[in-house]
Amino acid sequence: MTWQPHPERYSSMEYRRCGRSGLKLPAISLGLWHNFGDETLLETSRQLLRKAFDLGITHFDLANNYGPPPGSAEANFGRILREDFQAWRDELIISTKAGYTMWDGPYGDWGSRKYLISSLDQSLKRTGLEYVDIFYHHRPDPDTPLEETMRALDHVVRQGKALYVGISNYPADRAEKAIDILNDLGTPCLIHQPRYSLFERWVEGGLLDLLQEKGVGSIAFSPLAGGQLTDRYLSGIPADSRAASGSRFLNPDQITAEKLAKVRQLNALAEKRGQKLSQMALAWVLRDEKVTSVLIGASKTSQIEDAVGMLSQRHFSEQERAEIEAILV
Ligand SMILES: NC(=O)c1ccc[n+]([C@@H]2O[C@H](COP(=O)([O-])OP(=O)(O)OC[C@H]3O[C@@H](n4cnc5c(N)ncnc54)[C@H](OP(=O)(O)O)[C@@H]3O)[C@@H](O)[C@H]2O)c1
Repeated sequence: MTWQPHPERYSSMEYRRCGRSGLKLPAISLGLWHNFGDETLLETSRQLLRKAFDLGITHFDLANNYGPPPGSAEANFGRILREDFQAWRDELIISTKAGYTMWDGPYGDWGSRKYLISSLDQSLKRTGLEYVDIFYHHRPDPDTPLEETMRALDHVVRQGKALYVGISNYPADRAEKAIDILNDLGTPCLIHQPRYSLFERWVEGGLLDLLQEKGVGSIAFSPLAGGQLTDRYLSGIPADSRAASGSRFLNPDQITAEKLAKVRQLNALAEKRGQKLSQMALAWVLRDEKVTSVLIGASKTSQIEDAVGMLSQRHFSEQERAEIEAILV
């Protein structure tokens, strides 16, 4: 029998309006950066997507270069979509991005109109989608005029290849210009996707306030600092963890004694609150309305269950907030 999603899937999730748009996103979204490439068993990726959707996670986040190899996460996602989720396409928000190196030569990177439009066409082919819900410019390009990049985003919406557009990794000053250009073009910026966690707080220096003022939503990526803000590394580096996987983005040298000391204190505080550290870390990122959704990664379905379990314990007392600040100094 073909898979059927859980009939109660909308009962456990909170949906939050994305900026001043009409679109609501789940408080927790699932990213496909890791564990969806060709090195992961397709069945593992399938179980992660099924579990997420069963728990009300309606938003899956991709990029052209996710894999490895680059492009394979989109291709594998496309296959699972066809096999499992076809009937539920209209219940899903699927995003992809272009901005990092994707193919050889001068047209496979950064932010030209040539790159962005070709890349989205490739993403649509790989996933088998007629359109994506959100198309992002993945990182600012110091050379291409911002007007050109934003016009390309406006163009794909007018073509019907994307319903909304967003920007990622843009510092506040550049984000402001991009948002203003998109408004002038008549295609408002839906969302900004920055890195944000207890360990990475640059967005508090103006970006989140800007987005709120401009009515743009935000989705915080790597809210668990790739797994560092969980109990994963409390007693060594497990063989099946990201840090042990040879990842360029998280290696054992980054799990320093100093960081572990903070993680242990945060873990003790989470225990006092009656939740796991991963849950406290997600609740903290969502603690006010400036963040629309937390964008997690997962290698196991239990990690998705942990994340959704966070929703029942979201409140922080003044004292808990102060304790967290004291630990992070
Ligand atoms: N826009 C950008 O430039 C950009 C950059 C990076 C990421 N992103 C997006 O953000 C998404 C999430 O990034 P991320 O994977 O770094 O997020 P993350 O949520 O900070 O880290 C996820 C990792 O933490 C570990 N983990 C999760 N839940 C756990 C739990 N309950 N207990 C113990 N360990 C747990 C798992 O690692 P193990 O493998 O060790 O189990 C998991 O793969 C990506 O998929 C992508 O969509 C965007």
